Amino acid sequence: MIKLFAILLTLVPQLIPAPAEMQVRDGVFTISEKNQVKYVLDSKAKIPAEGYTIDITRTRAKVVASTEAGLFYARQTLSQLEADGTIPCVKIKDYPRFRWRGFMVDAARHFMSVDEIKKHIDILSQYKINVMHWHLTDDQGWRIEIKKYPALTEVGASRIEFDGTVTEGYYTQEDVKEVVAYAAQHFITVVPEIEMPGHSMAAIRSYPELSCDKQPVKNFYTWGSPDIVLCPGSEFTFQFLEDVVAEVAPLFPGKYMHIGGDECKKVRWEKCPACQARIAAEGLKADDAGTAEEKLQSYAVKRMEGILAKYGKSLVGWDEILEGGLSPNATVMSWRGEKGGIQAAREGHDVVMTPGSGGLYLNHYQGDPKAEPECYAHHSVLQVPYDYNPVPAELSAEEARHILGVQGNLWSEYIYSDTMRDYLTFPKMFAVAETAWTPLEKKDFASFCQRLDAACARLDAMGVTYHMPLPEQPGGSYGQMAFRDSAVLTFTTSRPMDMVYTLDGSKPTAASARYTGPIVVKESGLLRIASLSSYGKLSEERLITLEKMEPIPALHPEQLTGKLSVRHTPGCFTIPHDIPFGTQWTCTELDDIRKLPKLYPFNGNMQDPQFFAAEAEGYFKVPETGTWQFSSLYDEVWIDGRLVIDNRGEIKKNFRHDGALVLEKGIHHIKVVYLSNVNGGWTTARNKGEVLIRRPGTEKWRNIDIR
Ligand code: ACM
Ligand code: ZN
Repeated sequence: MIKLFAILLTLVPQLIPAPAEMQVRDGVFTISEKNQVKYVLDSKAKIPAEGYTIDITRTRAKVVASTEAGLFYARQTLSQLEADGTIPCVKIKDYPRFRWRGFMVDAARHFMSVDEIKKHIDILSQYKINVMHWHLTDDQGWRIEIKKYPALTEVGASRIEFDGTVTEGYYTQEDVKEVVAYAAQHFITVVPEIEMPGHSMAAIRSYPELSCDKQPVKNFYTWGSPDIVLCPGSEFTFQFLEDVVAEVAPLFPGKYMHIGGDECKKVRWEKCPACQARIAAEGLKADDAGTAEEKLQSYAVKRMEGILAKYGKSLVGWDEILEGGLSPNATVMSWRGEKGGIQAAREGHDVVMTPGSGGLYLNHYQGDPKAEPECYAHHSVLQVPYDYNPVPAELSAEEARHILGVQGNLWSEYIYSDTMRDYLTFPKMFAVAETAWTPLEKKDFASFCQRLDAACARLDAMGVTYHMPLPEQPGGSYGQMAFRDSAVLTFTTSRPMDMVYTLDGSKPTAASARYTGPIVVKESGLLRIASLSSYGKLSEERLITLEKMEPIPALHPEQLTGKLSVRHTPGCFTIPHDIPFGTQWTCTELDDIRKLPKLYPFNGNMQDPQFFAAEAEGYFKVPETGTWQFSSLYDEVWIDGRLVIDNRGEIKKNFRHDGALVLEKGIHHIKVVYLSNVNGGWTTARNKGEVLIRRPGTEKWRNIDIR
């Protein structure tokens, strides 16, 4: 298989990113000791910066570039072309569409080791990525040594998770130098990000004087944006930021430094005397463009820009920095769609496009969230960043010149392992790389998918994990189905891929039955199904339990109150079994099952969280006899005494354990168990508390009808 693959490779060059111009000729050039490729660096050659030409015949192989970067990229292209000591005869003229071809590392939520960063630099530079944006500070961690403020890493670089484990890590300034030098060898510029004025809880935990009320803050181990932020009313805040910049800026030879600026809640500023005094002193006034506090954010960003300028850096920030006005030298990263990028380009700012809506958030699901491992939210399959055009149609040619490029961001909230990081990065970053490099008119997703096989085989050779599309069920994947006579199971993949399955309980192999169309099952059993790549690799498998059953009879309770009986108790429980026998419950009633998680107050800053357990039971109506699917984030959902949803051990953020039963038309009993707690940084208090029901298929989910 591998051999055949290598032969195919020599026939059709499988390059990612696709080059600007390529002609394939007959024959191959065979590399030997005396037959080597000739590299020419000619600064006067009419070749764009980072571009190169490759000219290969049967007898000679020549590369020309006008810069070292161009030669480096030519080498990457050649290494993708080479198979078994030969290079196909080709003529290539290549250069990038954009000069900012970035990937963002969020080392703050979960640390990424220097070795892992180097591995990503190795791989991504092969695909001509040239910027690494290093998100070094956030609420959950401060990851860079600052000699003047040792507590930033002594305190701010570790957190105790809800379950008592410790998550930690930081880069010494020597580590940073090592990464920057390694990146430079791979023609990658590193842009450090020090967040301000929001997303700064780790700094505030280390130095409480940085916040408005200057009170000590507790360990922060959940995701989301707390409202405890830096105080722009205080001079100490700016002194601190300047001291940090003074140590950080010299470590990075590049022009840019990122200051964050996103998602800063301003409620504390409204009540802070220092912030209000600053607003008054600076004459900041609410108007159509924003509140006085929004103007205060703009004031803080402008001061930060002045600090950066003093240390020779140009400011980059998330698109919120546009709010309240911005100096023209600042570069804007458009993440909340393209609106910020469009406005910025029109105002004359340089722009890097990185909208989640364009598939540039690598932490978004690459497939059906009900089938994929927990990552974040949203659904952007590989084709979304592939099809993304970083130059919005609204921009004139002049304005479009401000679009420096495009960047893939991998936020690391749900990245609990290096494997998971790789799974989300690859192959999506290859799609970003082609979007960043290849001329728009040369992009073709079908061709990309074919070329991707070679790239994935290279990852396999390195032992690097990557996402392979899983078999998915239209309308929402599930792991259990109930039926009376038969069930029809339909599968798709997020990009074209074969699927193989078994119904006899055995593990699927490349030789198992191919999926060719909907599978009809008439008996109880287990369906095991996996995707199969063109080079013979199987994806993770999906298991679906099939349960043939008679309808569960409806109940005839004497009285229906429309209410749920509820009992609850304060305490910290991770599984229902943890609730001790003999617990003193408090009893109450609720008319809406969604109110259960709100029984106790929830403080998003997680300063004094009140965890608890609750159970609710009552009756609901089933409108017709047949199979009904249930979906919920409660820890357990019991229908007529049967455990239909069990979310034990799950990060209860996305619905991944839908269950089904065959029910007779009429009244049925429901009981749910809810544990207010945190798993994997996700606090269940944020959940809506729904129990959803529908007929199997693509019908919309609706809330259960309590009677
Ligand atoms: C962001 O995703 N908050 C920039
Ligand atoms: Zn303040």
